[in-house]
Amino acid sequence: MAEPTFFDVVRSQRGVRLYRSDPVSQEDVDRILRAAVRAPSAANRQPWVFIVIRDREVKRSIGELYRQAQSPDRPPPPPGHFTRETEEVPVIIVACVDLGDRPNGLDLPRAASIYPAVQNLLLAAAALGLGTRLTIPFQNSPELLTELLGIPEGYAVAALIPLGYPAEPDHLGGSIRPPIADVTFDDHWGNRPAAGAGAR
Ligand SMILES: Cc1cc2nc3c(=O)[nH]c(=O)nc-3n(C[C@H](O)[C@H](O)[C@H](O)COP(=O)(O)O)c2cc1C
Repeated sequence: MAEPTFFDVVRSQRGVRLYRSDPVSQEDVDRILRAAVRAPSAANRQPWVFIVIRDREVKRSIGELYRQAQSPDRPPPPPGHFTRETEEVPVIIVACVDLGDRPNGLDLPRAASIYPAVQNLLLAAAALGLGTRLTIPFQNSPELLTELLGIPEGYAVAALIPLGYPAEPDHLGGSIRPPIADVTFDDHWGNRPAAGAGAR
């Protein structure tokens, strides 16, 4: 089957919550990671490390962290949700960023460099028909995940990304965005695009 075009992929990519447990090949994972590391990064530092988790026990432990972090005031996630049946998700990719020495606090360009790579990863997965979701869990207690995965000091977890074939009805596509004229100015803040340009 022909691969989708870039614009087909961008349109279809969306955050998936429900996954089939069908396996994802290592070849596909490698292809996705090769796309991730093509991303731009500040000063070309490429400050990323990806942990690819397939081990059921590690996934089960992540699921346990979700249960511990679940606020009692909120309804539990629905059956099949990746935070509830975490060990059933075929692969979890944890994107870590090397924060550097940080003598003057957070080096924003360096830290931010992880997200173009993550976006490449999400798009590459969608191009292969695979679902993902960019999540940043356990922000109040990041040590839970760093200890579990043995992530050394100086690195931060920037994203935890489930990866697998989307389960119906959580298929790729169908996410809604307003017209770009709603979020675009011409030449100067406040100048709305000319009439008729709203459809662009
Ligand atoms: C920086 C960032 C953090 C996010 N964190 C979470 C998260 O912790 N949990 C989650 O389920 N989704 C998270 N998302 C996914 C968004 O909720 C999702 O992309 C958005 O609602 C748009 O939905 P769509 O992907 O279906 O178009 C995050 C997205 C971004 C860009």
